[in-house]
Amino acid sequence: MTARGRGRIERGAQRLRFVRWPGIAALLLVSLAACGFPPGEAFDPVSDRGSDISRLFVLSLALSLGVVFLIAALLFLIVIRFRDRGDKSQASGKTGDPRLEVAWTVAPFLLLLVLFTLTVRTMRSVQEAAEDPLHVRVTGNQWWWNFEYIDNGDVSSPNELHLPVDQPVEFTISSSDVIHSFWVPRFGWKVDAIPGQERTMTLTPTDIGVYDGACAEFCGNQHAWMRMLVVVEPADDFEAWMQAQERGAVEPQTDQARGGQDVFLNGTCVSCHTIRGTDADGTVGPDLTHVGSRENLGAGVLDNTHDQLKDWIRDARAIKPGILMPPYPVEQISEQDLESLTAYLEGLK
Ligand code: CUA
Repeated sequence: MTARGRGRIERGAQRLRFVRWPGIAALLLVSLAACGFPPGEAFDPVSDRGSDISRLFVLSLALSLGVVFLIAALLFLIVIRFRDRGDKSQASGKTGDPRLEVAWTVAPFLLLLVLFTLTVRTMRSVQEAAEDPLHVRVTGNQWWWNFEYIDNGDVSSPNELHLPVDQPVEFTISSSDVIHSFWVPRFGWKVDAIPGQERTMTLTPTDIGVYDGACAEFCGNQHAWMRMLVVVEPADDFEAWMQAQERGAVEPQTDQARGGQDVFLNGTCVSCHTIRGTDADGTVGPDLTHVGSRENLGAGVLDNTHDQLKDWIRDARAIKPGILMPPYPVEQISEQDLESLTAYLEGLK
């Protein structure tokens, strides 16, 4: 090598030495920042089995981080300790210690064996049947959820799931069209809703509260608006809610609402919707027997208020394009009838 070439390499090495320490410091900072990620909802479960899964996850994460830091520290030490000091004699080092090789083969094996055993145990406990659970049939539809309480005369509560706290529940999950995924992050895990298959998910909700759920499998253009509301409540509140749901629809109380009921029963609504206690028994769309008691409309796309309910009936596709519910053309319904229809439906508490 020419003297000029050597000089260039030395200058390059010097420059590298200059950036080395700030570089290492930046790398450490980035690694530390990555450790401080905000805990997501799935890591704070409110179900017994979700907690089992979460514990396993945290343990696996801690072990993995331990391994990463151990390797990084060893690598760092080796790089410092055996760096090129310009001492040629160093190159002819001793051969490796066979005990070391045994150690770094056996240690990962044991670590993986522990994780494997714990994983299989957690999978078993998560899939275990519960004693005397509440049975809820969950059906995914483009793009709404149906929750049917099999033990209570198939009471249907679309997009709004009510559960008593500290009581086991067994969901039977399926789909009427494409693959969806039943996901309430705070439950701790999710189960796919597959057409033609029934899958079960068993858990006991442990904390009272209102939780959000969503479809977690892309299922078409309104996938993002396939939400659900999960209300975990004291047993008494749940019983009261269930008794109200088991009753048929309330009779309309005002002339306007009675007019709205006529519009509903004589129009196209009945071909898709059920209102128990009336002649409406369509099953394509959500059951509306107690639609007035729900928080949201259109699987979470709107709050259930008078004006938004009216907008929804007038032209649901303008709000949620692609859905089956057709708009009510202005030539088919007067503003007055639309108002009556809205009054009738919001009275269905
Ligand atoms: Cu259903 Cu995504």
